[in-house]
Amino acid sequence: MARIPSAFIDELLGRVDIADVVGRHVELRAAGPEFKACCPFHSEKTPSFTVSPVKQFYHCFGCGAHGTAISFLMEYDQLDFVEAVETLADMVGVEVPREHSAPDNGPSKALTLALTEVLEHVASHYHAQRETLSDYMAERGLDDTVIARFMVGYSPRRDALALDPKQLIDTGVYIERDDGNHYPRFRERLMFPIRNRKGQVIGFGGRALGDATPKYLNSPETSLFVKGHELYGLFEARQHTRRIRQLVVVEGYMDVISLHQFGFTEVVATLGTATTAEQVRLLFKSTTKLIFCFDGDRAGRAAAWKALGNALPELRDGRELRFLFLPDGEDPDSYVREHGLLGFHDALERAMALEHFLFDHLSSEVGNLDAAGRARLASLAQPMLERMPEGVYRQILNERLQQIVGLSTQRRASRQGGAGQRRAREPSHSSSPRTVQPSRMQRAMACLLHFPQLLHTLPDALTTLPESVPGQALWSMLCATIRAQPDIRPGQLLERFREHEHFAVLHRLAAQHPATAEFDEGFATPELRDALTYLHRDATRKEIAQYKRRLHELSDSEKQSLRRLLSEVAKLPAE
Ligand code: UTP
Ligand code: MN
Repeated sequence: MARIPSAFIDELLGRVDIADVVGRHVELRAAGPEFKACCPFHSEKTPSFTVSPVKQFYHCFGCGAHGTAISFLMEYDQLDFVEAVETLADMVGVEVPREHSAPDNGPSKALTLALTEVLEHVASHYHAQRETLSDYMAERGLDDTVIARFMVGYSPRRDALALDPKQLIDTGVYIERDDGNHYPRFRERLMFPIRNRKGQVIGFGGRALGDATPKYLNSPETSLFVKGHELYGLFEARQHTRRIRQLVVVEGYMDVISLHQFGFTEVVATLGTATTAEQVRLLFKSTTKLIFCFDGDRAGRAAAWKALGNALPELRDGRELRFLFLPDGEDPDSYVREHGLLGFHDALERAMALEHFLFDHLSSEVGNLDAAGRARLASLAQPMLERMPEGVYRQILNERLQQIVGLSTQRRASRQGGAGQRRAREPSHSSSPRTVQPSRMQRAMACLLHFPQLLHTLPDALTTLPESVPGQALWSMLCATIRAQPDIRPGQLLERFREHEHFAVLHRLAAQHPATAEFDEGFATPELRDALTYLHRDATRKEIAQYKRRLHELSDSEKQSLRRLLSEVAKLPAE
């Protein structure tokens, strides 16, 4: 794909105001030089979300969300980097230039645009013929509002699409025969357009109206449509839910629409495939709580187990995963029709916690929980838990595993010589996650990320760090970037490193020292100076120590170096 030149990103970020970008989605109130709002990335009543036009950063004190105008669009609208840049460029009315550095294999921009337009056109063509479905829809209890909301339609036996057949083949609407002719893929089917998270139609699911097989026919994967990367209903859930608290993952298109019909909009469906890690990642961008709602039969449990495996790496603290298994023969559609919205809510309330499903499933796999069975259970569970990010959640699950396999009881018994009648307290492994203090180097970087112009106030001798300092290479890149563009803004500086292997580190550092009144320039100036001084002194002392270890065998020039180092340390400001 063509790269976007970083000079353009700079210029773009210089032109847009992050307060405008955020302000389009979130109601901002002025608070001094900054703006405040309730955080759009987590649920809260008192505003802890700030936007700093000076720095071109946003920051949330509640959940730690942080970033530039580009990251905001990426997070809030779930766009990828290029899409976010294009959106910003649209806002200020400029074209995104491309550097054609690598051979361009991806779909070209013009083609991609045209393809979504083709699909949109086909969807409305089907939708226009929804009359044919009116009996079927009435039978299934769906009204015009949801039919319109999901643009449900009908594909006739013969269609009259005045579109380029080549494009209809590329979008999967037509099938090309070996002899070069083509015919429509979907005939006499109920059509569900599948939208991406921007709301563009990227494919279709088509349900047979009678007993035709297959029951569902889906679009093939195309350059626009990758089944494992999309979720049916995600766009609509975001459109029609004021604040998404949870997302229920179901299996069927009909389940999604039916729940909407009953007023439940926090629902998405996978596209006839197992839930992928990419889908879980995408869903956790919109919510912190996922409930997988599957059949209670073997296939449903197997699907849930697969989903669980794919979700584990995403389960950092603050996120939640549950499982709801419906009675045999029911799906969410039939369940909500029988039990109503309240009944469905009740069922969700009773959804199984991740740990229950995990340990139940493993226990049933192991069978007898005798000593050998428990050991096997532990050996199956441990590698799974290790796939979770470190944190309290993982620790609690680990403790739960210890309880199940009985380790903690044994440990307790042996500690008390086996005679303990007293209720023993759990061994107190520290239950709070360690808070890691940022290193001096990290503090220095955080200062520069927030106040790049501080660099110009410091002597070169101080900002040029010895190569032995960990992080020195990244530090000097930061300095070089600022020197090349002395008036660079924090947001621009951070974006310069988006492609860099340590972008995540810089992003985290920028977020750790938020845009607050306490962390102002007056605070950062001595902080930066102190950190750099410390790093110089530390590196120099280590070098001196090395010389001193072999003091008696130093050459003359080495002795000279040692003397120089000693005088350098002496010149550094006192600690
Ligand atoms: P179901 O057979 O449970 O259908 O398939 P459904 O969604 O409940 O539909 P109704 O209520 O019978 O009308 C669940 C999902 O599995 C995929 C589709 O995505 C479907 O929504 N599927 C099913 C296919 O892709 N192909 C099939 O042949 C069947
Ligand atoms: Mn169904």
